[in-house]
Order: sequence, then C-alpha cells, then structure tokens
Amino acid sequence: MALRFEASCPDGLCPGWSVILKGETPAEASKFEINFMCDRDDKIAFHFNPRFTESDIICNSYMANHWGQEERCSSFPLGIEEPFQIEIYSDNDNFHVYIDETKVMQYKHRVEDLKTVTKVQVVNDVNISSLEIAKKHL
Ligand code: GAL
Repeated sequence: MALRFEASCPDGLCPGWSVILKGETPAEASKFEINFMCDRDDKIAFHFNPRFTESDIICNSYMANHWGQEERCSSFPLGIEEPFQIEIYSDNDNFHVYIDETKVMQYKHRVEDLKTVTKVQVVNDVNISSLEIAKKHL
C-alpha cells in the first residue's frame, strides 16, 4: 500500500465536511482509494476505489474485520494521465461523490456513530496536486 495522503480530524469529518481531491492518474495506474476511517478501531466507513483494470468504481465499508456488500458507481469518468477532481461530502444520511462536478455516487452511511469518522486517507496510484478539506454549508 502506498500512502499518498492522510489527515486526522479528531472532531470528526461527518457530516458536513467536504474533501476535494485534485489529481491525475499516472501511466499504468491500476487502482487508487480514498478511505474515510474511524481512527480508533480500524473501521473504514467509506472506501472509494476506482479500478482502472475493470473500469469500475467500487465502494464499500470495512467493519468488524470484514468487507461488506460492494456498491458500484454508475459511470467511470476517469482516464489514465487525465486530470480530475473528486469531491466527497457527507450529510446525515449519505456520502455524496462528484467527479468533475458530475454526481457519480450516493452511499448510505453504514457506521452508526458518524462522529467516530475522524481520518481520511488516499492510497496507491494517484498523483495528488491538491487536497482540500472544507466545511460545507448544508
Ligand atoms: C477487495 C479488495 C479491497 C477492497 C474490497 C472492497 O477485493 O482487496 O482492497 O477494495 O475489495 O470490497
């Protein structure tokens, strides 16, 4: 696993915070991940995983040492060596994902206590040009 970015927000990222990643996938990219995690107990509340080998974006949660039911995005608007912007924000009910301002995913929260979602990380095949974490006015 190649860690590209990690930030801890002890007061919690959900709901109301928006993570905006600008970047580009390198040549020969296979996959990358954006993970919203619970710092304390290794849960992944939201795993957002574009896979270039399958032209698919897999979303899931990792809880109680298991992956849950996968959900897939409706489209795959990412290209190798093409710049993109991914925005993920959460309200009380869902994570909302936009790629280049087009909505690609709505993922219902599985973690019950949203305040425990305190970390965001980006791993594997992505060159990050900027990452912004901002309070969203819902
Ligand atoms: C697994 C993969 C994990 C994660 C999971 C999502 O096959 O090894 O990294 O992507 O799928 O369901």
